[in-house]
Amino acid sequence: MAGGRFLVAYFSWSGNTRRLAHLIHEEVGGDVFEIQPAVPYPDSYSEVLEQARREIRSGYKPPLREVRDVSPYTVIFIGSPNWWSTIAPPVAAFLAGQDFSGKALAPFCTHGGGGLGRMVEDIARLCPRAAILEPLSVYEGDLRDLQAIRAKAAAWLHRIGVK
Ligand SMILES: Cc1cc2nc3c(=O)[nH]c(=O)nc-3n(C[C@H](O)[C@H](O)[C@H](O)COP(=O)(O)O)c2cc1C
Repeated sequence: MAGGRFLVAYFSWSGNTRRLAHLIHEEVGGDVFEIQPAVPYPDSYSEVLEQARREIRSGYKPPLREVRDVSPYTVIFIGSPNWWSTIAPPVAAFLAGQDFSGKALAPFCTHGGGGLGRMVEDIARLCPRAAILEPLSVYEGDLRDLQAIRAKAAAWLHRIGVK
C-alpha cells in the first residue's frame, strides 16, 4: 500500500482525536480533513453527552458542514472519539454519505477507558464493501506523552502496511 493516496479524516469535539489525527498525518502524509457537523455540538459536556446519546440511539446522521470526496484515495484513516461505545454521529454521516467500495479504511479512536467499543463493527456495517484494517485505539490520558503515542502509531502504521 506504500505509494497509495492517503486521507486522514476525523471528528473531534474536545481536541484529543484531532491531536492523534495530526500525528498520523505527519507520519503518512497525504491529506487531512476535519469532519464537522453543520450545527456544532454544544460546549457543555453534560449537554453533548445527552445530545450524543439521543442521536446514537436513533441512528441520526447530522448534515455535515463540508464533504470531502474520497474517490481519489486508496487508504482512508477514519478517526472518532468513542461516544457511547461507538463512532460519533458526524463520522457515521461521513461514512454513510459516500461509496467506500474497494477502499481500505483504517479506524482510529481516542477514548476515556472504553477502547474501541463497537466502533469497528459499526464502521463495517456502514461501509460493507471496504476493507477494514486493524484499528488503533488511544486512551485520552496517554496523549500527554506524545513521543510514546507517536511510536505506537508508527508501529501500527507498519503493521497495516502503510509505512
Ligand atoms: C458524548 C460523549 C460520549 C462519550 N462516551 C464514551 C464512552 O462510551 N466510552 C469511553 O471510553 N469514553 C467516552 N467518552 C470520552 C471520549 O471518548 C474521550 O474523551 C475522547 O478522547 C474525546 O475525543 P475528542 O477530544 O477528540 O472529542 C465520551 C465523551 C463524550 C463527549
